[in-house]
Amino acid sequence: MVSKMLEELYLEFREKENNGALANYIPELAKVDPSKLGIVLTTVDGYQYCFGDTGEFFTLQSVSKPFVYGMAIQEYGVSKVLEKISVEPSGDAFNSISLYPGSGRPYNPMINAGAIAATNMIWQLYRGDTLDRIINTVSTYAGSQLFLDEDVHRSESLTGHRNRAIANLLRNFNILQSEVDAPLDMYFRQCSIKVNCNQLSIMGATLANSGINPLTGLKALEARHIPHVLSVMASCGMYDYSGEWIYNVGLPAKSGVGGAILAVLPGQLSIAVYSPLLDPKGNSVFGVDICKRIAETFSLHLYKTPRQLKQAVRRQHTLKTARSKHKRDLQAEAMLEQFGAQAHIMELQGELSFATCELFMRRIPGDCTALILSLSKCITMDDGALNLLLKLATAFAESGKTFFITEYEHLNFFLALKKENYMYLNFRDLDDAIFFAETSLLERHGYSWKNEPVKLDDQQLLKGLTIAELNELKKCLEYEEHEPNDIIIQKGSSATHLFFLESGQVSIQDTTEDQRTFTLAIINPGNSFGEMALLDKQQRSANVVAQTDVSCYTMKFELLDKEESLAGIKMKILTNLGASLSSRLRTANKELASFT
Ligand code: DON
Repeated sequence: MVSKMLEELYLEFREKENNGALANYIPELAKVDPSKLGIVLTTVDGYQYCFGDTGEFFTLQSVSKPFVYGMAIQEYGVSKVLEKISVEPSGDAFNSISLYPGSGRPYNPMINAGAIAATNMIWQLYRGDTLDRIINTVSTYAGSQLFLDEDVHRSESLTGHRNRAIANLLRNFNILQSEVDAPLDMYFRQCSIKVNCNQLSIMGATLANSGINPLTGLKALEARHIPHVLSVMASCGMYDYSGEWIYNVGLPAKSGVGGAILAVLPGQLSIAVYSPLLDPKGNSVFGVDICKRIAETFSLHLYKTPRQLKQAVRRQHTLKTARSKHKRDLQAEAMLEQFGAQAHIMELQGELSFATCELFMRRIPGDCTALILSLSKCITMDDGALNLLLKLATAFAESGKTFFITEYEHLNFFLALKKENYMYLNFRDLDDAIFFAETSLLERHGYSWKNEPVKLDDQQLLKGLTIAELNELKKCLEYEEHEPNDIIIQKGSSATHLFFLESGQVSIQDTTEDQRTFTLAIINPGNSFGEMALLDKQQRSANVVAQTDVSCYTMKFELLDKEESLAGIKMKILTNLGASLSSRLRTANKELASFT
């Protein structure tokens, strides 16, 4: 669909009359074919929509300026560069002599004066290697090796009297410190780098993708400098048309007299248009109109970007409604039921920013004593979110409350925590974290899990049996011991026995179609397993594996069915089983209802 819509737009412009003019102040530029038209849209995952003359080469001209400016701030840092080049829109033409009176500081790095000053800063560092540095950097942005158009360079060098005058003025103000000719020549050369529309669009997608080329994965610019480059493009990239451009199109952009326009929607895409006929301000006539149409059609205006705030919290529940896979004893279950509402689990998703964090933090209730944040479904986290989460963690720690963050290894949070030497627990998965939170909630309320053997009298499924009944039952029981990793029940086997776990831990496990093992439940002493077949007599639906040394009582179902003397006991066991199933069903229902 995207392709169809862009193709229609391309075909419409292909037929349209264009009353622009070729740049002729650089004679070589006046030789290009004015009818060429190329449009490429590249997404941040590297997918390209290409129409028309997208392989046709042209020179970058002023489109080189933001990339070289990015190099300068990366090499010197923002404040050093700001001392030499301001970031105020001049409202003047690209070749205007817009320098601050007194200091001679150029207004911004997108007009020629500021761009020459930026190139000079690179030249001061690298001298003879400057051109290689610049070409290598723009090639990293483009994802392929770029070259110079020697004819255009020569042509501009021979006729660039106005730029020479600007450079000399900059020298007069000590913005250019030593000499004029060499850095000016570097500027002419960077303008003469050849690209095609396809490559240019990838350069833009690299800016949109936080400085990482989406096709090669190589870093062209530190992510923290991307906002600096994009903001000068937004305020000054289209010269004395910049205000109207950002008002109507709403995308940071840069034009060049070679006929190219590059527009960037941060985090999403870039658009490159090549059409060499220019308007009187030096911007490609079709380039402006096509970008405007694409931005309108796809609603790309930066200030229209939708915010998926409501979906920031994927799921919110408490330990009353969501439990780990651990089946604990009755007392623990009762305490979790009583106090579980104070412990919150929030599963966040999408992009973590100030807005999404502010929203979820508002949803943390005042009486919350423990909070687990699961970040497994979060895609990115910016520094604003990082600062807020660190502050939240500190506030929880200072008031003696529990705070866990889980599944964050894929986010910059992990690196930041490591760097700061923060000791946050990172659990294998959310279930592990919930188990840990359950245990700390229980401890907070004076319960400590002893993991001691649970005799028959205290088994959950045997609640309510009289001493006489227990003695009767004991006659029918056998006793088993297992070592870690023993398979106590095999999936698919026929069900013959019910198990009462006396000591140790077993896990109920199944495998996915692609043979991955996953845990359905972890059974602790005092609980039974294999008990479902008592109701349905079906084959075993999962494996039961010993996690530790295990001891358990086992009982044949058959006996319960046949022995008259066990009828009353069977009734009580079935009642307890029914109660346990309905409690599990209630918890599962509440858990489902907690999906936001
Ligand atoms: O400085 C110049 O004259 C050119 N080499 C670059 C100017 C340019 O591309 C202006 N953009 N619209």
